[in-house]
Amino acid sequence: MKIFEQFSHGSLDRVGQPLTDAMYRQRPKWTVASISEYDAAFFSGLVMAVKPRKIVEVGVASGWGSVMLLKALEAAGVEDHHYIGVDIAERFFYDANYATGQAVGEVVPSLASRYHLLTGRSIAEVAPELGGGIDFAFIDAHHMHPWATLDLLSLLPFLVPGTWVAMHDLNLCRKEDQEHRNRGPKYLFDAWDDDRAHSVQVPTMAGAIRIGAKPEDHLPLLLDVLYTPWELPVEERFLAPLVAMLTKHYGDEWGAKFQHATEVGNYLSNKMHSRDIDALTADISRLRNSASVKIGGFISRFSQRFGR
Ligand SMILES: C[S@@+](CC[C@H](N)C(=O)[O-])C[C@H]1O[C@@H](n2cnc3c(N)ncnc32)[C@H](O)[C@@H]1O
Repeated sequence: MKIFEQFSHGSLDRVGQPLTDAMYRQRPKWTVASISEYDAAFFSGLVMAVKPRKIVEVGVASGWGSVMLLKALEAAGVEDHHYIGVDIAERFFYDANYATGQAVGEVVPSLASRYHLLTGRSIAEVAPELGGGIDFAFIDAHHMHPWATLDLLSLLPFLVPGTWVAMHDLNLCRKEDQEHRNRGPKYLFDAWDDDRAHSVQVPTMAGAIRIGAKPEDHLPLLLDVLYTPWELPVEERFLAPLVAMLTKHYGDEWGAKFQHATEVGNYLSNKMHSRDIDALTADISRLRNSASVKIGGFISRFSQRFGR
C-alpha cells in the first residue's frame, strides 16, 4: 500500500485553497450535489500541481466541479488543454430546469470554448472516441459499486502512465443517510496499491490514485475489486462495450476474465438480499395470513352453524 508518496498530506489542499475561497463566493445556488469546499481545494491543488492537458470528468451534473477544475487549469497557466465532461444525463439530475454542465457557461464563459460535453452515454461507450493521451481523470458518476471501477477500466487504455485519477465521495457510505451504501469509490481507493493522496477532511471525500508506469499492470487488482459483491446490477449495454474494449487492448484472455467477473457480479447482485424484496415478501405473507384467518373464521362459523 502506498500513500502520499508524490504529495504530502495537506500540501495540495493548501495550494487549492485560495482559488476555492474566491470561487465559492460566486457559486450559483442551484449547483447543489457537487463537490464541497474541502474537495475543491484538494482537486484544484492537484490540477495546479500536475498541469494536465487532456482531462476527462466522468459525471458532470451541474458543471460546478468542471468550473473549479477549469479555473485551476487557468490558474496553473495551462491554456492549450482539452477538457471533456461525460454524463449519462442530458439534464442536471437534481433539477431538470438546468442542462448538464450549465454552470460552465454561466460562471466561466471565457473558458467554455475549451470545454466539451458528451451526454447521454456512459464513459465505456465514449472512451474510444476520446482517444489516448488522457493525463488527468476525475471520476464522480454513479457511486454504487462496481461503477467507479468500471469507469476507471473504461479509461485505462487511454491514460498516460503516471496519470492522477481523482475520485469523489470516497466515504459517502459512512454518512448515516446513505445507509452504508455507495461504496464504489471506497472499494477502489482502499484497494489501490500505487500512490494515493486524499484531502484533509475526516473522513475524506476527495482522493486521487496514480496510474503506474504500465497502466495494464493494474488489471489484476481491478479484476479483484470487481469481484467484491456489487451493490446493484449493471445493464449489458454498459458492460458489452467495456469488455469489447478490454479484449481489444489487452487480449482475449483478459477480455474473458473481465467478462466472467461481470457475469458473476450481476448474477450475485440479482440474487442478493434486498430490502425492497424483503418488504414485498412481508406484505405477501401478511396478506396470506389475513386471508387464512378470514377463511379459517368463516369455516369455523360455518361448522358451528351447520354442525359440520
Ligand atoms: C455527483 S454528480 C457529479 C458531480 C460533479 N462531478 C460536480 O463536481 O459537480 C453524478 C453525475 O453522474 C452522472 N452519472 C451517473 N451514472 C453515470 C454513468 N454510468 N456514466 C456517466 N455519468 C453518470 C449523473 O447523471 C450525475 O450527473
